[in-house]
Amino acid sequence: MAKDKSIFTCTECGGTSARWMGKCPSCNAWNTLIEGSAEPAAGKNRFGSVHASLAPTSDVLPLSQIEAADFERHPTGIDELDRVLGGGMVEGGVVLIGGDPGIGKSTLLLQAVDALQRSGMNTLYVTGEESGAQVAMRSRRLGLPDSQVPVLPEIQLEKILHTLQSRQPGIAIIDSIQTVYSDQLTSAPGSVAQVRECAAHLTRTAKSTGTTIVLVGHVTKEGALAGPRVLEHMVDTVLYFEGDTHSNFRLIRAIKNRFGAVNEIGVFAMTEKGLKGVSNPSAIFLSQHAEPVPGSCVMVTLEGTRPLLVEIQALVDSGGPSPRRLSVGLDRDRLAMLLAVLHRHAGVACMDQDVFVNAVGGVRISEPAADLAVMLAITSSLRGKPLPKGFIAFGEVGLAGEVRPAPRGQDRLKEAAKLGFKVAVVPKANTPKKNDKAFEGLTIYPVDRIEEAMQVVRGLD
Ligand code: TYD
Ligand code: MG
Repeated sequence: MAKDKSIFTCTECGGTSARWMGKCPSCNAWNTLIEGSAEPAAGKNRFGSVHASLAPTSDVLPLSQIEAADFERHPTGIDELDRVLGGGMVEGGVVLIGGDPGIGKSTLLLQAVDALQRSGMNTLYVTGEESGAQVAMRSRRLGLPDSQVPVLPEIQLEKILHTLQSRQPGIAIIDSIQTVYSDQLTSAPGSVAQVRECAAHLTRTAKSTGTTIVLVGHVTKEGALAGPRVLEHMVDTVLYFEGDTHSNFRLIRAIKNRFGAVNEIGVFAMTEKGLKGVSNPSAIFLSQHAEPVPGSCVMVTLEGTRPLLVEIQALVDSGGPSPRRLSVGLDRDRLAMLLAVLHRHAGVACMDQDVFVNAVGGVRISEPAADLAVMLAITSSLRGKPLPKGFIAFGEVGLAGEVRPAPRGQDRLKEAAKLGFKVAVVPKANTPKKNDKAFEGLTIYPVDRIEEAMQVVRGLD
């Protein structure tokens, strides 16, 4: 028999290598590879029955002969959460919920699991970060003093797996995956190798027992789930919390979902009594200026099924020899590109200026439809002239200076009209064909190119 081979795992990115190297081949970090034994051979597994029962023994069948069963879903009753999940928790599904500390992960999951327990499901809440007393305090605060949710304060994987086997819950929350460790592994608790191995074992348990497992994960300052991005491909659903911890609103976005649509968002408000769903969220990310101010432009974003109005703010200020370009909630590389397009095609130069842009409310906007609003906010700040009252814009801007249509532009315009916006600068292909009552009160300026958009705005001064 071949001897078990050693593998080397990077403590930064979780990448592996068959031999030791000074530099990680995946992320190029130095001195981060540490030795750990590869997966033990079949038959010698460390986790006893749980692991052994997983060897797939199914026959090979043509697709037509495999029964296409829909997934068994369990709605949590929290509408906004069910919306991002694609209808509820799926039996045997593994969900990863990431987000900044203090954003409300534990709060939301306790609310969800309590609702499921009340609906008759057998649940389990494993807490590694807080004591049972702290969880109990949260449940009192949430107005759930009579909650029957079984709580297990535990961080050792083998004990958690044992409890899962003996109690067979319908759903188990692991809060958080970063605190779980296995003493079968030599690497330190919290290291990438530990987190990845523990998540893999929990995932296999979910698949073999039908228990839904929700893993809570922390996000680092850089926005990656601490250590292991590797977890993302292991699980079925990845949800991220967004939002400013200083404001009351929170967004949950599905960035991967094997059981539903991605980019669907759920919106919550943090209240005295936990997170409450916001069913009509379109206007919550607008800061309320009494009068228009320079450097502010509202856009309509549409990720998922509901349009959302978000204010984009820009500040252009004279910079030093190497001016800064900073963005919050928007892509920084894209900002650099838009500045170049502004210069080349609209003659707006910011070379010697610091440029800061921000999406209000801690929202992250990844769709290129934000381009036009970003560029108009920047020019408005540079000129020191506000855009007109009730102004919105959206549209992707290409390197050649062309303004490209945004998906479902008419829905975006309808929402803006509904909320009383008056002026819209949008891609030509997004303008409504016929006179529709839904756009009443909104003057729409269709544009084909960025310089045209600039002209329209100057004409509105
Ligand atoms: P928490 O769920 O502990 O965050 P996470 O698990 O993501 O780290 O949420 C903590 C914050 O939420 C904390 O600052 C207090 C606040 N909060 C409320 O405002 N209302 C509530 O009912 C609860 C339980 C928490
Ligand atoms: Mg927590």
